[in-house]
Amino acid sequence: MTKRSFKRTLVTSALPYANGPLHLGHLAGVYVPSDIYVRYLRQRGRDVISICGSDEHGVPITLKARHEGTTPQEVVDRYHTLNKKAFEDFGITFDIYSRTTNRVHHETASQFFSTLYEKGEFIEKTSEQYYDEEADTFLADRYITGTCPHCGHPSAYGDQCEQCGTSLSPSDLINPVSTISGSKPVLKETRHWYLPLDKYESWLKKWILEDHREWKPNVYGQCKSWLDQGLQPRAVSRDLDWGVPVPVEGAEGKVLYVWFDAPIGYISATRELTPDWEKYWKDQETRMIHFIGKDNIVFHCIIFPAMLRAEGSYILPDNVPANEFLNLENDKISTSRNWAVWLHEYLEDFPGKQDVLRYVLCANAPETKDNDFTWKDFQNRNNNELVAILGNFVNRAVVLTHKYHDGKVPPVSLLTPSDGEVLDQIGIIRKGVEQSLENFRFREAVKLAMDLARLGNKYLAETEPWKHYKNDPERVASILNVALQISANLTLLLDPFLPFSMQKLRDMLRFGETSWELIGNSNLLEEEHVIGAPALLFEKIEDHQIQAQLDKLMKTRNDNLETDSARALKEEVSFEDFSRMDLRTGTILEAEKVPKTRKLIRMTIDLGVEQRTIVSGIAEYYTPGQLPGKKVCVLANLTPRTIKGIESKGMILLAENPDGSLHFIEPAADAVNGSEIN
Ligand code: MF3
Ligand code: ZN
Repeated sequence: MTKRSFKRTLVTSALPYANGPLHLGHLAGVYVPSDIYVRYLRQRGRDVISICGSDEHGVPITLKARHEGTTPQEVVDRYHTLNKKAFEDFGITFDIYSRTTNRVHHETASQFFSTLYEKGEFIEKTSEQYYDEEADTFLADRYITGTCPHCGHPSAYGDQCEQCGTSLSPSDLINPVSTISGSKPVLKETRHWYLPLDKYESWLKKWILEDHREWKPNVYGQCKSWLDQGLQPRAVSRDLDWGVPVPVEGAEGKVLYVWFDAPIGYISATRELTPDWEKYWKDQETRMIHFIGKDNIVFHCIIFPAMLRAEGSYILPDNVPANEFLNLENDKISTSRNWAVWLHEYLEDFPGKQDVLRYVLCANAPETKDNDFTWKDFQNRNNNELVAILGNFVNRAVVLTHKYHDGKVPPVSLLTPSDGEVLDQIGIIRKGVEQSLENFRFREAVKLAMDLARLGNKYLAETEPWKHYKNDPERVASILNVALQISANLTLLLDPFLPFSMQKLRDMLRFGETSWELIGNSNLLEEEHVIGAPALLFEKIEDHQIQAQLDKLMKTRNDNLETDSARALKEEVSFEDFSRMDLRTGTILEAEKVPKTRKLIRMTIDLGVEQRTIVSGIAEYYTPGQLPGKKVCVLANLTPRTIKGIESKGMILLAENPDGSLHFIEPAADAVNGSEIN
């Protein structure tokens, strides 16, 4: 256990990739817990800053841009804006939400690399890597596909086979193909810089396995298994034209590996936030906490600490409370299969209900194991906990105060011993919540905090002020005073979890204090203090609303099934049927974009016996300039079709790449135009 005392806390939350929208898995795994934590520390008056931003480099972003026919900058601009807004909408209160394409970051990352370079901390190594001669570029692992040597899956990636889950290196693939041009890549020498992680192995073993036994078991366990397997040098540069350029002479066309620059983004963002940034990064009395998902553990617990150690002037994380994954209705959340609840869509369907999602995701957070989000559970927690317990209690306290006491906090004349016990509970609950939060047990924390609302609810149910007003108004005054004091305490205790609703409750009580240190005080609202009008904190969520969400997911599931079965083999055809198709080789002579269309290219094809005009929807994958001279395969006797006023005679055969783009099936370079394909 950490027993040191710290002066300040630096909280970082994983920088999400700016290549897609955020979904509830992101919130549950990283951002809801980190926000609860920083809100809690702020309420305690601690010196804390919360850092986040968009991770805007890396191959997937360039792939997406290529796929959409746009630039990586355009892609990251779009998602940076969308995701920044989603965080704001959900009340995730970063002190800064920066981005890794900005100048401060490029300078900081570049400087960091140079420092290590000058200290001689890198190994320089030349190795053979796949190169696409047609596209004139080295291929990142993700750009190469081929047959998996383990399961025979025909479109495994150069880094992983998604069918059998094995991690691969590109040289493992059988028949590797470049997804950029569809050509066969060749091995070519390239030079890169490696961080010798093996050099840090024994230090890391001591630092994590001995000095940080208090880390969560899932985090500690993953680190241990990495360390037990032994660490290898890791390349920190890539051949790519998108990223932070490697600041070394002769390194043109090379950038820092995205996992080298992204965590430095935490430093850059802090620099951008405050001129005082060094006290957060270079003072041993700062406690640094990284909030991340489990897929980020090795980078935050092993690689980034090794980088920081190699640099020498920075502090290391004190804890890395990584969460496991959240599933959705029993299936893995998947962006490509659209199996997700997107944050911006949630807000369209449940406007104003940010706190409900925050609450459910916290109460059911995947803290120790993967967990499942179901809409039924969402509805139950809203209706049975937020509405029936918290909302109901507060509403009764406020409504009865208006009914019996003209909206003024009634005087206490008769406090029974059991009233005293109830009030004492507040401080006890507070201690429990503190314990849980300080140990990153957010599920436990929110459950304990809700115990105060449960207690209040039970208190009113047992004392039944509505029954006694006629015969014992003084007793009722005391009961309502107690209920109002509990309500005011709730605003403080639940604020980290339910910030929107607690603001509403503060307005209702006309109570402006937010300090955590006041929790336990039984005189937060003075006698005669005038409270505001009652308003409902939460509303019931109806079955039809839940059904609508389930229907939406059911539709996604059906769409996915349809796509899958479209990919299943078609019905068999006879040899006669097949031989009726006249397939020929040809050469593209001319090509031009069909005006006012996005996808169409009109081509003239030499088929040996004659020339043909064929229109094909390939403008997303090829520019007209690339086409003349290309050998293609043509279905020559397809019934002519008129497309955009052009008669298209025949069809060019295309094969699909793993990313959904298409490339020509190419005959040998010396094939004679018009020769038959069979
Ligand atoms: N973009 C990464 C992800 O979403 C996280 C980067 S965290 C940082 O998995 F440390 F690199 F910034
Ligand atoms: Zn496989």
